[in-house]
Amino acid sequence: MPREQQLVVSPKFMLSFHRAVEKDFSAVNQLIVDQLQSDVGLVENIGQYIVESGGKRLRPVVVLLSALANSYAGDKHIKLAAVIEFIHTATLLHDDVVDVSTLRRGRVTANAQWGNAPSVLVGDFIYSRAFQILVEIGDLAIMGLMADATNVISEGEVQQLANAGNAEVSEDIYLQVIYRKTAKLFEAAAEAGAVLTGGDRAAMASYGKHLGMAFQIADDVLDYLGDVALIGKNVGDDLAEGKMTMPLIYARDNGDSAQRLLIAETINNKSAESFAEILSLVQGSGGIDYSMDCARQEALLAKQALNDLPESTFKTQLVDLADFSVSRLN
Ligand code: IPE
Ligand code: IPE
Ligand code: MG
Ligand code: MG
Repeated sequence: MPREQQLVVSPKFMLSFHRAVEKDFSAVNQLIVDQLQSDVGLVENIGQYIVESGGKRLRPVVVLLSALANSYAGDKHIKLAAVIEFIHTATLLHDDVVDVSTLRRGRVTANAQWGNAPSVLVGDFIYSRAFQILVEIGDLAIMGLMADATNVISEGEVQQLANAGNAEVSEDIYLQVIYRKTAKLFEAAAEAGAVLTGGDRAAMASYGKHLGMAFQIADDVLDYLGDVALIGKNVGDDLAEGKMTMPLIYARDNGDSAQRLLIAETINNKSAESFAEILSLVQGSGGIDYSMDCARQEALLAKQALNDLPESTFKTQLVDLADFSVSRLN
């Protein structure tokens, strides 16, 4: 298909908050495709493969909505939104190698298709392309925000890796990991809108942080209960990786000694063999309900952070996005 006709966002992913910024959003998607060009065939193949398989594009939408809700009138938010999606995409390429995942965005992962080495290297290409675009934007405060976020994400991923197979991980450590690996980028996306406009950075950062926490807690519930056809990833991956996430931490802390032993053995062995048994244990313990309550609480905090932002359709969509982060099925 010629490049200009590529459909990079599946209509099934176009939600009200995408439509509210439709023109800018399509400019972002065009820029993403254009910026993946490379003379090296494998770079382009893998880059296009992951980008064309879609994704919800939530983080670039946060950049656009945050800038516009703060009355931005320039055009730097388009490039910035592409930067955020590139940083996200690069982390996904690396994350699927680390997690030995085989399904992403409804397709075989790049690591399963091409191998680990090409995935890691193309991830590096995409990270560095993001930083090239940042240089074009030429705003030192924004550059600092993105450099910090990228650095913190790496820390979160390493911290989580170091905890793999450890059934003793506390809820506090879990929350620290998900802040670093996921919420930090949402925080940077939202704060960037305020940096561009001289708006309230702390309020927008707080919105993004809580949105990201809600999003990741809900994602960890979907790893137990999600429909593979909708989430486009396998369920049970967290268990197979020996990852203690919120639903399982709750089940461990509220279970009897036999249940705690089963959880410890399963996590130590990094195996999803007992997935069905663990799932019913988690559900029976109230771990799913507890996690969703926490996710909803985070979404509420995100919305409260917007209290002083002037009313606009963009603000309304930021509120809707917070609700979507916990009600989503994909
Ligand atoms: C996946 O994020 C990684 C997590 C932080 C859970 P998304 O669910 O936003 O991924 P895409 O971009 O829509 O595929
Ligand atoms: C999400 O990690 C955060 C990053 C990719 C940095 P996960 O490993 O929890 O997310 P999925 O389930 O692979 O999307
Ligand atoms: Mg993963
Ligand atoms: Mg991971």
